[in-house]
Amino acid sequence: MILKTTAQTEAFGLYLGKKLKAYDVLALVGDLGTGKTTFVKALAKGMGLSSEVTSATFAILNIYEGELPLYHFDVYRLKDEDEFFDMGGEDMLDSGAVCAVEWADIIADSLPEDVLRLEFTRIDEDTRDVRATGFGPRGKELEEEVAAYENSRL
Ligand SMILES: Nc1ncnc2c1ncn2[C@@H]1O[C@H](COP(=O)(O)OP(=O)(O)O)[C@@H](O)[C@H]1O
Ligand SMILES: [Mg+2]
Repeated sequence: MILKTTAQTEAFGLYLGKKLKAYDVLALVGDLGTGKTTFVKALAKGMGLSSEVTSATFAILNIYEGELPLYHFDVYRLKDEDEFFDMGGEDMLDSGAVCAVEWADIIADSLPEDVLRLEFTRIDEDTRDVRATGFGPRGKELEEEVAAYENSRL
């Protein structure tokens, strides 16, 4: 799906945020500056969470508190997957919170089988492409939500 402006990426995040449920995991992939963080901030808003964020371990994890919390990981700075395990990452992915993981490929082996993978690509200064691939029953369901959103925009 083509996202022509930052606002379009935010609108997509807002939409998907409203669809999320406990234990949902989003694996975000894409180079620096492709819009992953922009997307997650809008996701939090869509989930009805305030922008008040608790930041830990040099922002490897930002927690948005709420009835259904959002754990926003950015694992770019992790040395390897063991470090993710040591910080309790795998347990946090399975704690019931919605989890959004930037640079998720780094911790690929720790991801659950049910996951929505969102791959962001930079097309030009203002344009991004996002590709959604769902794994497992819930991942597939979320992939369909993304497809429905794309169709509704046409
Ligand atoms: N269509 C777009 N979608 C998202 N961000 C965009 C878009 N066009 C330009 N940008 C800009 O690109 C940057 C993306 O930054 P960020 O969300 O932090 O990316 P990442 O987390 O992937 O490194 C922001 O400065 C944003 O304003
Ligand atoms: Mg980022």
